[in-house]
Amino acid sequence: MTTFAANTINVQSSRLPFGAQHDGRFKGKHILSISQFSLEDLAYVFDVAEEFRLLVRRIGVLDLCKGYVLANLFYEPSTRTSSSFIAAIHRLGGTVIPISEVRYSSVSKGETLPDTIRTLESYADVIVLRHPEVGSAALAAKYARKPILNAGDGIGEHPTQALLDLFTILQERGRVDGLTITMLGDLRFGRTVHSLAKLLTLFNVKINYVSPDLLKMPADLVEQIRAKNIAQQELSQLDDVLGDTDVLYVTRIQKERFTDADQYERLKDTYTITPEVMAHAKPDMTLMHPLPRVNEISMDVDNDPRAAYFRQMEYGLYVRMALLALVLGKA
Ligand code: NCD
Repeated sequence: MTTFAANTINVQSSRLPFGAQHDGRFKGKHILSISQFSLEDLAYVFDVAEEFRLLVRRIGVLDLCKGYVLANLFYEPSTRTSSSFIAAIHRLGGTVIPISEVRYSSVSKGETLPDTIRTLESYADVIVLRHPEVGSAALAAKYARKPILNAGDGIGEHPTQALLDLFTILQERGRVDGLTITMLGDLRFGRTVHSLAKLLTLFNVKINYVSPDLLKMPADLVEQIRAKNIAQQELSQLDDVLGDTDVLYVTRIQKERFTDADQYERLKDTYTITPEVMAHAKPDMTLMHPLPRVNEISMDVDNDPRAAYFRQMEYGLYVRMALLALVLGKA
C-alpha cells in the first residue's frame, strides 16, 4: 500500500500522472461519504490543505473565493465543524449564511429538507449540512444543484472530520502505514469513527476498537473493513492494547443518541484518559479526539505533548478550506 507523509505530500503527489493534481476533479461535487475518496484524492486534498496552512500563517486571509457564498446549515449542535467552515470561507475571501438555530428558520414551520436546500442554493454557491438523520446529506444532494458537504448525518458519517483526522495523523506522525490505531468510547453512535475506520482501509494499518459491549462498532462496518483485509480487534479494556497503540482516538459517549437515560448514566464514564493512563502509553503515542470531550480525557493531560486534539482542530481549518476551494473549482 502507498505511504505518503505530511512533509512528503508534494513529492508523492508529484508522482501522480501529470494533470491529476489540479484537474478540477472535485469541482461541483458533493462530499457525502468518505468512501468517495481514493489515495490519489487524499494526496490532492492534503496538498491544497498544506498550501493553505502555510498561506494562512503568512497572509491570514486569501481572496481565492472572493464573492462566493457558503450556506452553513446545522440542524444539530456544533462548535468546531460549524465555526471552522465559517472561518474557512472567510479566510478564502468568501462570505457565509449561517443557519444554526433552525428553530428560527422556516424549518420550524415544517419546511422539508429538499425545500430548505432549494432555497439556500438560490443564494449560496455551496452548502454545508449537519442533520440528525442518516442519509440526510445524500437526500439533500438529490435535490441540490450546488455542492453539498456532509458535516455529519446522524450516526452515519462525518467525512470532513475523517479527512482532518487523517491529515492530523500525517502531520503528527509523518505516515499512516504500519500504525496501530485504537478507537475508544462510543463506537456505535460516533459518526467520526465510522468515517475514519472506512478511510483507514486505504492504508496498511491495524485497528483496535475498545468500547463497552453496548457501544461496539456496527457489525456491518466491521465486516466492510474486514473485506478490505484490515486487521481488527474488538475489546472492552484499553489496557490490553494501550502499550501497542500509536494513535489513540478517543470519542465522547453520545448522550443525545440514547433512548434510555439510565443506560447513558451507566456507560458515560467507562473510560477516562488521565496522566496515569498516559504513563502506560508509548512515549510517542498520538492522542486524538474530535471534541467536544466531556469526561473522557482529563484536563490534566492537555499539556502532554502527545495530546494532539487542539492541534487537530486547527488542521481542520486548512482541510475545510481545501474542500471548499476544491468544490468551488478554485484550488
Ligand atoms: C463530533 C460530531 O459532531 O460528530 N464532533 C465534531 O464534529 N468535532 C463528535 C461529537 O459530537 O462527539
